[in-house]
Amino acid sequence: SFEVELAKSGVVLTVAEDQGLLEVIEPHCDIMTSCEDGFCGTCETQVLAGVPEHHDTILSEKEREAGKTMMVCVGRCQSSRLVLDL
Ligand code: FES
Repeated sequence: SFEVELAKSGVVLTVAEDQGLLEVIEPHCDIMTSCEDGFCGTCETQVLAGVPEHHDTILSEKEREAGKTMMVCVGRCQSSRLVLDL
């Protein structure tokens, strides 16, 4: 599991192994989504801290490595806490 902090509200949530990041954060922020499968780009979100784990098909290899943005509908986290600009 990992923690996700929503920077605009300061809310901190835990994402369990069997949960998706989007399902956990959606009730607590105004994230816009469309495909919910990592290919449309609607849910692209700035990553303020933490190491995102990318599962989308949009970002380039460079963008993945930079880790400054992610598609939260399919992404997860490789560090213990992810801080999102939400
Ligand atoms: Fe389409 Fe996330 S909702 S990439």
